[in-house]
Amino acid sequence: MLRQALHAISRSDRAERVVSTSPLTADVVRRYVADDVGRAVDELTRAGLLVSVDHLGEAVHDRTQAERAVQAYLALLERLPEGADVSVRLTALGLRLSEQLALDNAATICESAVSMGITLTLDAEEHDTIAALHSIHATLRKEHPDVGVVVQAYLRDSVRRCHRLEGARVRLCKGAYTAPGAYTSAADVDRSFARCLRVLMAGTGYPMVATHDPRLIRIAAALAVLEERDPSGFEFQMLYGVRPDEQERLAAEGARVRVHVPYGAAWYPYLMRSLAERPANLAFFARSLLTR
Ligand code: FDA
Repeated sequence: MLRQALHAISRSDRAERVVSTSPLTADVVRRYVADDVGRAVDELTRAGLLVSVDHLGEAVHDRTQAERAVQAYLALLERLPEGADVSVRLTALGLRLSEQLALDNAATICESAVSMGITLTLDAEEHDTIAALHSIHATLRKEHPDVGVVVQAYLRDSVRRCHRLEGARVRLCKGAYTAPGAYTSAADVDRSFARCLRVLMAGTGYPMVATHDPRLIRIAAALAVLEERDPSGFEFQMLYGVRPDEQERLAAEGARVRVHVPYGAAWYPYLMRSLAERPANLAFFARSLLTR
């Protein structure tokens, strides 16, 4: 119930105005969204962590906004070190206007990224965009085999999807939206995640294990040993500001750990989705509102 309410709030312009204009929100935003992306990337890199940078922006409804998002990514690439990754949401590149537009825009960013030794990963969004996501990923992959894509374990066809993505860079996550027919219980999502992990770790691609869940992290590490994967053959991924100690602990043990760093003014829907995922964060949010 609370989760659905927060998802609804994440789409409400009125709620966005109320929350965004409160000066008390700043502390919470700073914890999860980099206010200075260059500095955040430098600090994480110095700590031995890899980065995937996400220019925040949700669905655009005209070509000019989509073009602005492309320009923001091209400018971002100039500031990133080799080995970095950029996370891209296709709706921010115009997917709701036309699939071809989103493909062309993603291709522009991808070409520039690849020429700089930076990878690109396509985020998974609402369920009605998933078919286009995989079609665009398949097209881009023909020319740029390292383009990554996200699989959401809460979707019932996620295991089949992992089989189809054999050989690809795949970021596996639980899923942050809601979808008709999707697994809803935490236990079902976790089981699906573990089944996907088995497929990805046994395959020839590059699994990116995007979770903060200690149990799934242990399962991924055990499967990697079972499949005799070198530590350089897969990576863990976590969100900026979430379990930073665990990020450093895994890296110190020799694992590749990538931190997903969101930045930019359009932080509202991103933050609301994070709260919907983990309502316990609401207590943290409320505390910062009260104690500032
Ligand atoms: P879950 O939320 O169940 O948490 C498991 C445990 O982790 C908790 O019990 C707690 O111990 C710890 N924990 C989690 N959050 C915490 C917090 N804020 N503070 C302290 N401890 C915390 N989704 C999507 O639909 N499309 C996408 O493209 C992406 N991309 C993406 C990239 C990366 C790098 C990550 C890490 C995640 C995504 N996601 C995503 C989001 C993902 O689907 C999911 O919603 C969140 O990662 C939360 O799920 P967890 O697997 O972390 O487990």
